[in-house]
Amino acid sequence: MLLTIERLSLHADAVAHGPEGTVHVAMALPGEQIEGEAEGGRIAQPKIVTPSPERVKAPCPHYRACGGCVLQHASDAFVARWKAQVVENALSVRGIAAQVARVETSPLHARRRATLAGRRTKKGTLVGFHARASDTLVEVPECLILRPELMEKIPALHAATALGASRKGEVSFALTLSEAGVEMAAQGGKEMEPALFESLSGLARDHDLARLSWNGETVAARRPALQNFGRARVTPPPGAFLQATEEGEAALVGFVRAALAGADRIADLFAGCGTFALALADRAEVHAVEGEAAMLEALDRGWRGAQGLKRVTHEARDLFRRPLLPDELDRYDAIVIDPPRAGAEAQVREICASKTRELAYVSCNPVTFARDAQVLIEAGFALADLIVVDQFRWSSHIELAARFRRG
Ligand SMILES: C[S@@+](CC[C@H](N)C(=O)[O-])C[C@H]1O[C@@H](n2cnc3c(N)ncnc32)[C@H](O)[C@@H]1O
Repeated sequence: MLLTIERLSLHADAVAHGPEGTVHVAMALPGEQIEGEAEGGRIAQPKIVTPSPERVKAPCPHYRACGGCVLQHASDAFVARWKAQVVENALSVRGIAAQVARVETSPLHARRRATLAGRRTKKGTLVGFHARASDTLVEVPECLILRPELMEKIPALHAATALGASRKGEVSFALTLSEAGVEMAAQGGKEMEPALFESLSGLARDHDLARLSWNGETVAARRPALQNFGRARVTPPPGAFLQATEEGEAALVGFVRAALAGADRIADLFAGCGTFALALADRAEVHAVEGEAAMLEALDRGWRGAQGLKRVTHEARDLFRRPLLPDELDRYDAIVIDPPRAGAEAQVREICASKTRELAYVSCNPVTFARDAQVLIEAGFALADLIVVDQFRWSSHIELAARFRRG
């Protein structure tokens, strides 16, 4: 039966209407006519009968099998426009008419932070990304997303899987590129015991890893895994949040810097290890608030070691349960907020009740962002600028930055 694709879902699955209701279709584009067998409401292997003019040949040889990317069959212009539209639609559902001013897409081979998985097999080990909607692992020796420095460490992941994966389980390996080389934070492997510790520290040496942790325990810290945030150099705790590409981080910092240009005192909420706080401290005093004390300790050490920065104070605080209150917020000229996917509902309500006039909001979830934007706009803020920063090229993941002003 011939179906016409109407739109893409939030997960970038194509959506069509068949005789039995909505059908999700893998790797198809709006306007395309497709044929295929639906199983559980999904056509996994569609035949494209009438291709979209936006269809391109997927550049990566692993694309058919690997679940890491979902939009390589679409032109770059389509992907950028789709990501912008998802943000605009999420806002429009909340009654907000706004346009994304631009989309800043990170280049190929730019991901400096990624999580791969490893598993033992009858023949040896398998390391890669999960296949689409499956537990199977796909090896990705030609991956177009990861930085070459991460790709070079795939043999180390095989070695770590051989040493530390249990017979049936999977180990997840978070790789992060630091100034001192690659660090590996492994989770889900065998419990630590002296022989494993010994072998893993040998592996860190043989594969020249800057740092290796296993189920949260540091096994080797051969060089400080430094990141540069503005003029400061920070050693984040193992596996800590870091913007996924350098280019994405630069785009977000540039946007926030321009949005808060006139402020002398800034509060950085959900501050992590100081991506924004330490960059902004070259001309403003910053108070960094974050839930994870270890991230703030790293931020503070980085600030103390840097030259020429204004004062950066910090506070460990759960901003969902104990948001900054209006009298606390009123000590600052401007606020930058970068919450996790859940958004910052409680904190945004306190911002509305405060005298805050300048706010930069960085978000990794257009839906919770739109919910919070509605609350801000009802309290008198205007959405003054909006961009998409695509650090997760070809995935359905969307990040954005927005500037709100009032008064
Ligand atoms: C998207 S990250 C942003 C980090 C930082 N702004 C950056 O760009 O590197 C969100 C941060 O929020 C923190 N976080 C999550 N839940 C929190 C909570 N309830 N209260 C305070 N911080 C929280 C996480 O630890 C994480 O560092």
